Amino acid sequence: MSTQPTHFALLARLLHWLMAIMIIAMLFIGAGMVTSVSERHEWLIHLHKPLGIAILALVIVRLLVRFTTRQPPLPADLPSWQVMAAKASHLLLYALMLVLPLLGWAMISASGEPVMLSTTLQLPAIVPADAQLFAILRKAHGYLAYLLFLTVLLHLAAALFHGWIRRDEVLDSMLRGRDRG
Ligand code: HEM
Ligand code: HEM
Repeated sequence: MSTQPTHFALLARLLHWLMAIMIIAMLFIGAGMVTSVSERHEWLIHLHKPLGIAILALVIVRLLVRFTTRQPPLPADLPSWQVMAAKASHLLLYALMLVLPLLGWAMISASGEPVMLSTTLQLPAIVPADAQLFAILRKAHGYLAYLLFLTVLLHLAAALFHGWIRRDEVLDSMLRGRDRG
C-alpha cells in the first residue's frame, strides 16, 4: 500500500496561494467599488471584472487538480468536530470561489449592459436582461462576498491555530510540505 502524502501537490499549493492573494484583493476591490462614489475609482471595476473571471477559470483548474491529486490527511488526533468544520469550510470556500464570479457575470448580464472584460474583450450574457433579476443577483453577490470574507477570516484563524498553537503539520502541508518521517 502506498504511504499517505505529507503535503499538497506543488500545483495545488501554487494555485492555493495565487488564488488566496487574488481573492483577498477582490474582496477589498469590491468593497472599495461600492463604498466610493467618485468617478476616479472607475479603475476598480475595470480590475474587478477580469480578475473575477480569472478566478473562475483558475478554480476550475484547481478542482481538476484537487480530484486528480492526493491530499495529506488531517492529524489523527484532531477532534471530530474540527475535522468536520475543516471539511465543511473547505467545501464552502470552493463553492463560493465558483459561485461568486458566476453571480457577478450574471448580474452584469441581467443589467442589460455588455459584459466587458477590457475595452475589446466581451463575454456573452448568461442570463436575459431583467431589472428584477438584476436586483436579486446584485444582493446575492454582495451577501455571498461578505460570507466569503467571513469564511476566509475563520480559515486564516484556523490555519494559524494549527501553525502556532497546535504546532501540527497542517500549515506546513500547504506551505512547503513536510519531511517524511
Ligand atoms: C471571486 C470573485 C469575486 C469576489 C470575491 C467579488 C467580491 C465583490 C464584493 C465584496 C463586492 C462589493 C459588494 C457590496 O458591498 O455590495 C462586489 C461588487 C461587485 N462585483 Fe464582484 N466579486 C467577484 C467577482 C465578480 C465578477 C466576475 C464580476 C463581473 C464580471 C463582478 C462584478 C461586480 C459588480 C458589478 C459589483 C458592484 C455591485 C454593486 O454596484 O452593488 N464581481 N464584488
Ligand atoms: C489567508 C491566508 C491563508 C492561509 C494561511 C491558508 C492556509 C491553508 C492551509 C494550511 C490549508 C490546509 C488545510 C488542510 O490540510 O486541510 C488550506 C486549505 C485550503 N484553503 Fe487556504 N489559506 C489561506 C487563504 C485561503 C483563501 C483566501 C482561500 C479561498 C477563498 C483558501 C481556500 C482553501 C481551500 C479550499 C483549502 C482546502 C484544500 C483542499 O483540501 O483541497 N485559502 N489553506
